[in-house]
Amino acid sequence: MKNFLNLGRQPIANAFIKEEDFDDEFFYDLVVGFDEETGLVSLAEFVPPDKIFNENYAYHTSQSFPMVQHFKDIAIQLQAEFNPQRILEIGSNDGTFLKNWPIGSATAIEPCMNFCNVTRAQGYVTYPYFWDFSLAETVANERGLVDLVYAANCICHIQDLDDAFNGVNRILKDDGIFVFEDPSLESMLDRVSYDQIYDEHAHIFSIYALSNLLKKHGLKIFRIQELDAHGGSNRIYATRDRKVEKHFRRPRIAQSVECVIERELSKCLDSMDIMLRFENQVQQSRIQLKEMLQRFEEQGKKVISIGATSKSTTVFNFCRFDSGHMQLVTDTTPDKIGLFTPGTHIPIVDRQDVNLNDYDYAFLGAWNFQKEILKKESEFVGNGGQFITHVPRVGIYENSR
Ligand code: TYD
Repeated sequence: MKNFLNLGRQPIANAFIKEEDFDDEFFYDLVVGFDEETGLVSLAEFVPPDKIFNENYAYHTSQSFPMVQHFKDIAIQLQAEFNPQRILEIGSNDGTFLKNWPIGSATAIEPCMNFCNVTRAQGYVTYPYFWDFSLAETVANERGLVDLVYAANCICHIQDLDDAFNGVNRILKDDGIFVFEDPSLESMLDRVSYDQIYDEHAHIFSIYALSNLLKKHGLKIFRIQELDAHGGSNRIYATRDRKVEKHFRRPRIAQSVECVIERELSKCLDSMDIMLRFENQVQQSRIQLKEMLQRFEEQGKKVISIGATSKSTTVFNFCRFDSGHMQLVTDTTPDKIGLFTPGTHIPIVDRQDVNLNDYDYAFLGAWNFQKEILKKESEFVGNGGQFITHVPRVGIYENSR
């Protein structure tokens, strides 16, 4: 693997922190590499998973209304089309997808104990471990094989993908399907959204790379759904090579896999050159955003950020922001309120406790929810407030002009 991007010393992106813990904060070097053989983009140094995924993990899927709808919709779609009788979810968080399935039919894997307790209390059998082949053996022996393995924003967290895919192979029935969704490398490169890169995202997938990796395990992608979720994701449907015919009902579906790979290759996603171009764009993005916020600071303008996101941890630490650049961060998640942003230690407050009209600019920390945020905050815009974004380029968000 060849490294192409260094985002500097970074804390755990989702580890919003208390003041008394500032001195003990964990940092690591966030460096990104490219494997020219498979086309896989991965972190050069992985953070030990138990430093990230533990009982303090702050992201609650159920607290994001759009994601609740997202998981309901996909559950209904999978039930209507494939009618799986037994399912396994890897990375079930607080059960937002799971709750759409009968208790007896579903098994969950969730290493964060806070969430494991939630789904257990709902009655779902939940294994509090990281997904790997040996866990797959245990679950297969204790619970049997499944028709569907589903994982959302989880497979890209797993450092050893070969072991994870071996585990999927172990637990799937012969004609079972594996459906997973993760941030898209193509979207990240198109939008220069380098903030998709943080400790949790051990890999950022292209379909090209995934199809190379899955092939080694006798698995073949038969459908791709391109999603807006998390700033541009792909939902991948795979099954055993020899079972593609069974699931692959509509010719247009197969074509979509080929089309996506063709489009990725036309953008040279299999080449180091494009990664180096991305690196250059990221450095420019940092310079421009920092200059903009420094100018606002000099002009005495007040800046707030909306959404205490993992993504903004990468941006804030890469750009080395402090409370001079940005005075507060608002969030709607109860567990984040009262804490400070990782690394940069900017206070996080409840959106309800802030009058946005006291601020001149609002940075879209949760730019992936920009439509919702702009709609909610129309009064701020009406009063002359402006949104700043860095995606796809640094500037005033055009709809807020
Ligand atoms: P998320 O999209 O999960 O970002 P990441 O994966 O980078 O952590 O998080 C969005 C955050 O934004 C979440 O903490 C809730 C918050 N939020 C707001 O504060 N206001 C809003 O209007 C919306 C939609 C989200």
